[in-house]
Amino acid sequence: MQRIFSGIQPTGIPQLGNYLGAIRNWVALQQDHECIFCLVDLHAITVWQDPEALRQQTLAQTAVLLAAGIDPKAHILFNQSAVSAHARLGWIFNCVSRLGWLNRMTQFKDKAGKDRENHSAGLYIYPNLMAADILAYKATRVPVGDDQRQHLELANDIAQKFNHDYGVDFFPAIEALIPAGAARVMSLRDGTKKMSKSDPSAQSRIEMTDDADAIALKIRRAKTDPEPLPTDPADLQSRPEARNLVEIYAVLSGMTVADVLARHGGTGFGPFKAALTDVLVAAVTPIGAETRRLLDAPEHLQAVLREGAARANAIAEPIVSEVERLVGF
Ligand code: ADP
Ligand code: NA
Repeated sequence: MQRIFSGIQPTGIPQLGNYLGAIRNWVALQQDHECIFCLVDLHAITVWQDPEALRQQTLAQTAVLLAAGIDPKAHILFNQSAVSAHARLGWIFNCVSRLGWLNRMTQFKDKAGKDRENHSAGLYIYPNLMAADILAYKATRVPVGDDQRQHLELANDIAQKFNHDYGVDFFPAIEALIPAGAARVMSLRDGTKKMSKSDPSAQSRIEMTDDADAIALKIRRAKTDPEPLPTDPADLQSRPEARNLVEIYAVLSGMTVADVLARHGGTGFGPFKAALTDVLVAAVTPIGAETRRLLDAPEHLQAVLREGAARANAIAEPIVSEVERLVGF
C-alpha cells in the first residue's frame, strides 16, 4: 500500500478550493492508501498569526476534516509542530536545496508581490520544509491542488540531490496526485486569482461552514460577464469567471463540463447560479453542521491530534534519525 502525505494550513476556515482540490480527494484516497494528514502550523507562521487564533483554527480545521470524512483511527491526523522530525529534516533540506531553485517558485512571487524584501525568510524557504514534511515519512504520493505542482517538483529535486550528495538511495520519488476537475478553484470576485482562505475578501470564497443563505448570496454576487453561458466548452477559455462556476458545478454534480453546458448553456447566469447554489448547499452545509457539532467538544479534537502526533512520530523518528546519521550528526 502506498503512503500518502498531505497538509493544509490551519489559517482560517477551509474554503471550497481546499475541499475540491484537496480534502475531498483525501477522503477518497483513504480507501486504498496509508494516509498521513497534517495541519501545517509551521507553515502557517511564515505569515504572522495571532497565537490564540492559530490554536483555535487548528481545532476548527481538525473539525472540518473529520466532518468531511477523514478517519483518524484508520489513518493519521495531527499538527506539524507536534512532531519535531519536520523541523529537523527541514533544516537539513535548507542546506541541500539551492537558492536558484527557490528563486523559480512562482507561489513566493505571487504571495510576496512587489514587497519581496519585507517577507519572512520562512515564506521563502517553505518549499524546503514541505519537502521535509513528505519525506520524513518517505511518502510516495501527495494529493494536492494544481498550485502545489511546482513545489512537488522541487521536493523531488531535493530528494535526488540528497541521495546523490550522500551516495545513498534513501528517499523515494514522489508523485503528485492532482485532481482532474476543479484542480484550481478561482476566486468568486476575480477569475484570475485562486480562491484562498487568506484572501481579504470573504465574498471571494465559499467557506465550508457557510450556511445556505451565505452560499446563495455569494453565488448571486459572484462576478460573471454580460454574455449568456456558452454551449461549447471551448468558448469558456476566454471567460475565467464563467468557466470557474461551470467547473465547480461539474465536479460537484459528477457531470462533464460539456454536459453542464448542454443543460445550462444559451441562457443568462440567473438559472445556472440557482442550480449551482443547490449543488453547493447540498455538498457544503452537512459538513458545516457536523463541524459545529464537533467544535462543541474541543477536548475530543485535541485527543485526536495528540494520538495522531504519537503515531506520526513513530514513523518519522526512525527515518529522520537515519538522515541525521547519514549527514554526520
Ligand atoms: P489556502 O491557499 O486556502 O491557504 P493551503 O495553502 O492551506 O490553502 O492549501 C491546502 C490544500 O488546498 C493544498 O493541497 C492546495 O493545493 C489546495 N488548494 C488551496 N486553494 C485551492 C484552490 N483555490 N483550488 C484548488 N486547490 C486548492
Ligand atoms: Na496554498
